[in-house]
Amino acid sequence: MSGETKTRREADAPRAGRRMFIQSYGCQMNVYDARRMSDLLALQGYGEAASAEDADLVVLNTCHIRERASEKIFSELGRLRELKAARSASGDALKIVVAGCLAQAEGAEIQRRQSAVDVVVGPQSYHRLPELLARAGNGAHVVEAEFPEEDKFGFLPAPTEAATRRRGVSAFLTVQEGCDKFCSFCVVPYTRGAEFSRPVAAVVEEARALLAQGVRELTLIGQNVNAYHGEDEDGAQASLAGLMERLARLPGLARLRYTTSHPNDMAADLIEAHRALPALAPYLHLPVQSGSDAILKAMNRRHTSADYLALIGEIRAARPDIALSSDFIVGFPGESEADFAATMALVEAVGFSASFSFKYSPRPGTPGAERSDQIPEEVKSRRLLALQELLERQRQAFNRACVGRTLDVLVEKRGRHEGQVGGKTPYLQAVHFEGGPELVGRMLPVEILSAGSNSLHGRLKAREAA
Ligand code: 5AD
Ligand code: SF4
Repeated sequence: MSGETKTRREADAPRAGRRMFIQSYGCQMNVYDARRMSDLLALQGYGEAASAEDADLVVLNTCHIRERASEKIFSELGRLRELKAARSASGDALKIVVAGCLAQAEGAEIQRRQSAVDVVVGPQSYHRLPELLARAGNGAHVVEAEFPEEDKFGFLPAPTEAATRRRGVSAFLTVQEGCDKFCSFCVVPYTRGAEFSRPVAAVVEEARALLAQGVRELTLIGQNVNAYHGEDEDGAQASLAGLMERLARLPGLARLRYTTSHPNDMAADLIEAHRALPALAPYLHLPVQSGSDAILKAMNRRHTSADYLALIGEIRAARPDIALSSDFIVGFPGESEADFAATMALVEAVGFSASFSFKYSPRPGTPGAERSDQIPEEVKSRRLLALQELLERQRQAFNRACVGRTLDVLVEKRGRHEGQVGGKTPYLQAVHFEGGPELVGRMLPVEILSAGSNSLHGRLKAREAA
């Protein structure tokens, strides 16, 4: 028995020590949180494992936004329970942590359904992971789903340079969390809590450190990022536009993005930033959810479709080439054929470059879930299909319209084929072109030669530029 254990340890020798596997579901906020957890656990001696099978500690960083997201996680937990049982039969341990929004919303339920879970930790408390794991090490099951007084960011270590370089030249930076909007379909205000903006100095410091480690593009993220109102060094409130102006001055920054925004928080200075700030990419993800005023009202969105169209007009006046994307929900309770037609009409009127669309999923505790006029599944499916066809046509048209243009591409990685590199256009399209790995991290003019179904193909315009 001990001989077997020794053999396994020796086989693992080049990657000796404890190893973690962090699996993230859902939005970019979770991707960011997973990285911060990884930085924190790295300080506890955990190296990265390639899979759960290879790890001593598995963290599922969960999403609760739609029912499907939660179901996926419960099924993954079933698989991990078996892995853990097999492990303990051979005398080894596997710790399982459930983090993220499902943990926040259903912490007790997770413990009840899955006793194999050692720690449940919500998105505002994961800076306490080392302490929670130590408590779980003594055989306890630990559930931490508070909204603690302290600001977790103050307790999270900066990534090492190696970690940042591994993650690539484009980085997420959380500047805002939570939401006070209470759209009637959405769990976010319950799982992520009240709106909170990080102070300007903390964001600038994190940005500066990332840029010093080779990052070239920052995407500022928050559930309601354009509601940002962080305190600056003089105790005044800075807007998102003010924050971006500060960040744009940092050496090394090639490009800025932000997501996700609410139409009602598109302040005049933010629209102006799209005209005035060269580093700000001409791309805006501005979810509208529906084109029907009755449904927008029922969703508690607090704007009409005309308001949205007028806003798009202002944004396009400031930055005519801006690419727009949105989120849509079909089949919200009470949605009639006419309501759905209004959504299709809004999409036709705007012309989106990319979008995400979903069937309404009733979420426990939200007002929408209580309604008696839920839409049958087959109606939701039919509407989603029609909407997605239209959105896909618009996406392809947008991509085709880029053929022949020369766009600034931030090179992110080697391409799938030898001798190629891949990157992103200002409009967030994936593009690949011939070039060597030394181009990674450079912003280069690339002539777009053709548009495939998922990416563009181009040619480096000025070799001397490289
Ligand atoms: N059902 C379907 N989609 C939802 N979203 C949020 N809540 C729900 C829900 N209950 C979508 C919205 C939001 C995106 C992140 O997820 O479109 O903008
Ligand atoms: Fe959810 Fe966004 Fe509405 Fe906030 S603004 S409740 S995060 S959909």
